[in-house]
Amino acid sequence: MCGIIGYVGKDKKSLHVLINGLKNLEYRGYDSAGIALKDNKKIKIIKAKGKIKNLEEKVKNGIETNIGIGHTRWATHGKATEINAHPHRVGSVTIVHNGIIENYIEIKNKLLKEGYSFNSETDSEVACALIDKIYKEEQDKLKTLKKVNKELKGSYAFAIIFEDDNKLYAMRKDSPLIIGVGKNENYLASDVPAILEFTNKYILLDKNEYAIVSKTNINIYDSKLQKIEKSINTYEATREQAMKNDYEHFMLKEINDEPLAFEELLKQFNLNNIDELTNSMPSLEKYENIDIVGCGSAYHAGLIGKSIIEKYADIPVNVEIASEYRYKKNFNNEKTLTILISQSGETADTLAALRKVKEKGYDTLGIINTVDSSIARESDNVLYIKAGCEISVATTKAYSAQVLILTLIALVIANNKKTLNKNEINNILKDIKMLPSNIKTEINKQEQCKEIANKLYKAKDIFFIGRGIDYALCMEGSLKLKEISYIHSESYAAGELKHGTISLIEEQTPVIAIVTDSSISEKTMSNIKEVKARGAKVVLITTNKILNKYKESHIYDAFITIEDISPVIHPLHVATLLQLIAYYVAKEKGLDIDKPRNLAKSVTVE
Ligand code: G6P
Repeated sequence: MCGIIGYVGKDKKSLHVLINGLKNLEYRGYDSAGIALKDNKKIKIIKAKGKIKNLEEKVKNGIETNIGIGHTRWATHGKATEINAHPHRVGSVTIVHNGIIENYIEIKNKLLKEGYSFNSETDSEVACALIDKIYKEEQDKLKTLKKVNKELKGSYAFAIIFEDDNKLYAMRKDSPLIIGVGKNENYLASDVPAILEFTNKYILLDKNEYAIVSKTNINIYDSKLQKIEKSINTYEATREQAMKNDYEHFMLKEINDEPLAFEELLKQFNLNNIDELTNSMPSLEKYENIDIVGCGSAYHAGLIGKSIIEKYADIPVNVEIASEYRYKKNFNNEKTLTILISQSGETADTLAALRKVKEKGYDTLGIINTVDSSIARESDNVLYIKAGCEISVATTKAYSAQVLILTLIALVIANNKKTLNKNEINNILKDIKMLPSNIKTEINKQEQCKEIANKLYKAKDIFFIGRGIDYALCMEGSLKLKEISYIHSESYAAGELKHGTISLIEEQTPVIAIVTDSSISEKTMSNIKEVKARGAKVVLITTNKILNKYKESHIYDAFITIEDISPVIHPLHVATLLQLIAYYVAKEKGLDIDKPRNLAKSVTVE
């Protein structure tokens, strides 16, 4: 979603830093971009609709300055137009803003009465005008920001420049903001990868904190405007990890990163045997049920987790979409563990769900990729998935790593509850240890995935069917495909198809059937026959063992099998194939795979 970058330094570098910073933020998803460059009292604002390259075209003759702010906007209040793009300037104040101001109409009406006028439809311009108005009254920048913070409702982070000095000002409520620490130059950004090519040292601004940043000084103030000291952190991932290397797209690179991601994740735990694994995890003994909350693919990872935990550990698991969880009745208690799953750790709905649970005083566990993100810091316990930087909007390695950590949790609870014997679990652990190298065999099936993609890319509708855990996989496979290929797709519980959706199956309709659970394969095969009889073209994703059983049955038009491993890790193997198929379908269609239209990587609005 929206991204912020700010620079104050030397050698007239701001244009270079801002443009590169914005490019580094592109992965978050955006539909317009802009920068403000300040030279003494002169502030030049340049904005463009669409991609950063449109902005770059316009700034060819931009002024060279030592201070500036920039922004990528993902439209919420008002269309993706140049006028609505940030930065906004009102009077002596220029800002970029992430988040949403909920009471902006009220404030706008008051400001209109006081003679302010507005060019854009945005809530951000209203906030800018409010800062200008209060600054005129207060003549003190920090006091102004404190007052503005009190008046605004919603979630936000601001980078601000005032006409009368050469500093960057920052104010944070719920949207993340960091200060990058350089030598005789400093930065502001909505996340560290934006500035990683310039510095990996950063200070995290917390809720209701303010900062004044000049080229040599960083001063931070708490909610009462007391000056505070904050530690300087070092970002561990290298810039290399965030780069595409020789891959054509980040998505393909990130699928290829899966072996490394699994390795890094597993390194955190002791996998010699289940007792040692249990000791290297937060204690899970007291919980009688689990709620899992997340959005998008994180929610889908939760559904896989539910299947595995219920099957192997025999406790009830309730999986909820975060935006729904927030506004419904929850039946949790002190014996419930709520697991919040989020790659970014900043998803507004998931964060709000976390806060709802915490208000009741019940235990929370974050399964998070981004270190020090809001959900990671506010959860009682956190397990990092260590997938490394993920740039492609459509998640791949992070989703898979989320599933892996939920699998480990299932095994630990199964051990606690003695629902599986230790030998069985230790054998599964052996397979899990092999996962980083075994998953490579799936990644190496790219040619097969390409062939399947070739059969699919012209389709208008594609159906995914499966039962149980395979149905949960279908949901992710279908989401991945539609996110990046723009082909309409539905996932259906295989047995449910005949209760409605089968009416949509006609000659040549592609149906991807996932069948990995041998205990119910017979049933799914019957459902496959039902669609086949109506002309569907079936792509079967299954295990070698199941395929052998049905080899002669002529019920599929194409197939791809996963390696024979413990059933508990089947989903991880299938997920990689589904990601590759989606990738090659989108590639065949020549689409912007890493930045699909309208989508954002980190969704910081509700
Ligand atoms: C967006 C992304 C999805 C992601 C979801 C949750 O919608 O496009 O890929 O699954 O947000 O994001 P999170 O960072 O909380 O995992």
